[in-house]
Amino acid sequence: MPRRSDDVCPSPAETRLPDNSLAPPLFLGSVYRCESPEDADRILGGEAAGYVYQRDGHPNAAMLAEKCRLLHGAERAAVASSGMAALALAVLSLLRPGDHVVVSRLLYGKSRFLLTDEAARWGLTSTLIDPCDLEQLAAAMTPATRLVVVETIANPLLQVADVAALAEIVHRNKAKLLVDNTFATPVMLRPLEHGADLVLESVTKMINGHSDVVLGLLCGGDETWDRVPGVLSAWGLTAAPFDCWLAYRGLTTLHLRMERACANAMRVARFLAARPEVEKVFYPGLAAHPQHALAKRQFGDRFGWVVSLRLRGGRAAADAFIAAVQGAIPFCPSLGEASTTLSHPETTSHRGLSPEERQRLGIDGGVIRLSLGIESPEFVCEALHAGLEKLGYGE
Ligand SMILES: Cc1ncc(COP(=O)(O)O)c(C=O)c1O
Repeated sequence: MPRRSDDVCPSPAETRLPDNSLAPPLFLGSVYRCESPEDADRILGGEAAGYVYQRDGHPNAAMLAEKCRLLHGAERAAVASSGMAALALAVLSLLRPGDHVVVSRLLYGKSRFLLTDEAARWGLTSTLIDPCDLEQLAAAMTPATRLVVVETIANPLLQVADVAALAEIVHRNKAKLLVDNTFATPVMLRPLEHGADLVLESVTKMINGHSDVVLGLLCGGDETWDRVPGVLSAWGLTAAPFDCWLAYRGLTTLHLRMERACANAMRVARFLAARPEVEKVFYPGLAAHPQHALAKRQFGDRFGWVVSLRLRGGRAAADAFIAAVQGAIPFCPSLGEASTTLSHPETTSHRGLSPEERQRLGIDGGVIRLSLGIESPEFVCEALHAGLEKLGYGE
């Protein structure tokens, strides 16, 4: 019998799909046909493979998670709707009221806010530490400490955490170490291999790499994972299929983009270090960086794609420089894009901190953070040269 166009439910014959497309398919379905109530029951109970409802899981999230799991050498991986959602996933899965968290004071502002102010509303206590000071970590651990959270490379002054040394202290105290690896990616470091229990990535940044997706990743081992799938679904932290599809495509070129962007960063760091307008350059690849030896040992010959600098002349110089380079290097307060961008931490990522805390961290109005892209190094250096010349120090 001919069907009417408003008989909207497609028949199984209509939904039969080819399985030999070289590009991964995109599954936008919010819900999946089940063979029988028993079939649905087994899938939803985790006893059979398959999908029922998008918030519980879908093929595009599974494909992305599996690729990231392999890159990190993890037992488990889950994709969440943002880097912050991945952090919330870890907190909600591992912690309960009364637990204590040790938090790097150098964390991305919103992560620090989540783990201190927000966490306090749910009955968690926290202590801030400098992740480069192992004695501070040891002193902060209490019998109630369940989780320690640090970043591999901190934002914006690029201090490097010694993951193995931190993990040893954390484990001695029977807590778990979560490492936000966004500034390194698995290309530079696989924190789980250095003793971390969980690793987080803001996939939004270099892993996706094309400025069109907000996503997060959490990887860990079996012993950290019991509650993760249930929390992901119950708190609605699941990522959308199209975002996962895009990030999966972006991930294909991660190693190539990293190679170019890290090489550009090294070149730019050296270029800036020789300029009279620049008071200080922050880059783990420079011998003057306080953790250069650790960075070499931990990362090998790549030191990341982010370079920060402090301009002589403070905020006024930063405003003039940002305006001068805007045509070639846009002011975009994120990082890990295909093109080089810059940000001004005082007014963006770290605006939530008090002026005293920013001063304590060394983030003043003259600090600019560059996120190197994959352009030619000549293009980037010429743009920076033109911007610095406008500050008029050479006259
Ligand atoms: C180091 C770091 N971790 C986590 C996040 C949060 O990620 P998202 O913006 O994907 O939620 C950010 C965002 O800027 C970040 O820089």
